[in-house]
Amino acid sequence: PESLPVTRTGTRQVPGSRQVFCPSNPDYAHAADRIVRRLAQRYADHPAVVLWHVHNEWGNHNALCYCDVSATAFRLWLRERYETLDGLNAAWGTDFWSQRYGDWQEIQPPRDTPAFVNPTQDLDYQRFSSDALLRRHRTESALIREHAPDTPLTTNLMGTLEKKIDGFAFAEQCDVVSVDHYLTAADPQAHIGLALNADLARGMASGAPWMLMEHSTSAVNWQPVNVAKKPGEMRRNSLAHIARGADSVMFFQWRQAKAGAEKWHSAMLPHNGTQSSTWREVTRLGRHLRALTDIRGSTVDAHIALVFDWHAWWALELDARPSSHLRYLDLVHSWYEALWSLGHTCDIVPPGSDLTAYRAVLAPSLYLVTDDDAENLHSYARGGGHLLVGAFSGVVDVNDHVRPGPQPGAFRDLLGLTVDEYLPVRPTDRIALADGSAAHTWAERLVLHSAAATLRFAPGAAGAPAAGEPAITHNPVAAGTAGYLATHPEPAVLRRTIEAFCRAAGARPAADVPVGVEAVRRRTSAGGSFLFLINHLDEAVTVPARGTDMISGLSYEGKCRLGAGDVVIVRE
Ligand code: GLA
Repeated sequence: PESLPVTRTGTRQVPGSRQVFCPSNPDYAHAADRIVRRLAQRYADHPAVVLWHVHNEWGNHNALCYCDVSATAFRLWLRERYETLDGLNAAWGTDFWSQRYGDWQEIQPPRDTPAFVNPTQDLDYQRFSSDALLRRHRTESALIREHAPDTPLTTNLMGTLEKKIDGFAFAEQCDVVSVDHYLTAADPQAHIGLALNADLARGMASGAPWMLMEHSTSAVNWQPVNVAKKPGEMRRNSLAHIARGADSVMFFQWRQAKAGAEKWHSAMLPHNGTQSSTWREVTRLGRHLRALTDIRGSTVDAHIALVFDWHAWWALELDARPSSHLRYLDLVHSWYEALWSLGHTCDIVPPGSDLTAYRAVLAPSLYLVTDDDAENLHSYARGGGHLLVGAFSGVVDVNDHVRPGPQPGAFRDLLGLTVDEYLPVRPTDRIALADGSAAHTWAERLVLHSAAATLRFAPGAAGAPAAGEPAITHNPVAAGTAGYLATHPEPAVLRRTIEAFCRAAGARPAADVPVGVEAVRRRTSAGGSFLFLINHLDEAVTVPARGTDMISGLSYEGKCRLGAGDVVIVRE
């Protein structure tokens, strides 16, 4: 009974659903290990086993448990991290609000509190909880590898659909990265979120091919209105994943259940059987995938990196920030949408990764950035790279402590400016920009040192910076450049800004296609290449293409007609 998870407010959850366990519970661990060991012993040498899939969507339902067992495990985790109580007190800033700890036993998980919980305690609990599941993943993986050392192993990660686990940390433990992806049915531009998550999957795989472990043939059953996919949409989704580096397309579920919690979730074989459009679309997809086997193992062309970090996400969304409307995924999505609309393919990578090969690097939101990661971005720009940084970045260190001196602490010198004051904006207000466009949510009053303004604020809403003050800046840095956005421009101006930035950096899209059409290129190590052209528009378009259509066999001598909603894959 002690292995059942406890919520923040102290409710112990009960069986009858799934993932009903506390990630730190030793009895659960013991029982789970026993099952894993038995499975591995029994099936390690079975000829049909080509890949081990550990667990299912780590952390989806139960990552954060607040029970006493978790409290004990948290204290151990903190001892390892800080070694001494003085270290912990300093890191958590416990002198504030008289929170100083004199004994490890006094430390609790961030349970229900009358006022804001200590932010570093909260942040560390998110790290600890992700690590607790990562430990389970590593233990179960090690047990399997003892018996099946040569069989690759994976787990289905969830990209931006899962805030609670650090996807990059889990991906490092996998022989092949796999992800699940489900569309947000209410979003007419859901295919852009799909592309973002596919680029993140590739980032988690360090550029190597990855697997789409799950997506849906049509509707899911867990959104407020579970809209069915339109004819052709599942095919576009599947091939968009392949375009962005997937070497597999798989589905939840095979045969639609007739009972249980997921009976209204679509499947490859739906309730109405083989006389259904879903079945016809799935089998057609299967035929098309067979024609694409040569693509397997090739890598995606991307000259731009977009920086993503779970720790920055956790920190930005802690309590008591200047604005609760500054949401990490909104920022990342808006920048990504601009890149997508411009036709640029980007790798989505952690801030500490090797950036040297990229022509341009975009960091939409790095409120928290470690010293090492900040130095990595500095050295990228110093070495000739082009870096664009989003508002309210570089602000706090690894412990969520405000960096000393003027903001943006970690990026002050790099950006050649200081922040005089942060000026959050009410959600209903718009801030006028000098080019006639507008921004929202956030503004900053900047003082420029070596940076120059490329766009300024215009007279506008109350609380916004004065007319003529800089909104977007540009700073030469040794051989490279570093730009800054002190606000959140509306999509058109964000797109123009990113377009100019990418052009100056020399980054080019895979092909010249209209907005709403995706063009992505995969290359083989032997010098071959495949151009994916995906039309999300309701009308046919003519796009540049030279080579053979891998599905129809047609050959294109410079252009091809892409029907409404159609996909063409060209062997160049
Ligand atoms: C997750 C799970 C599956 C299923 C699907 C439904 O991704 O891994 O078991 O519940 O969601 O969308």
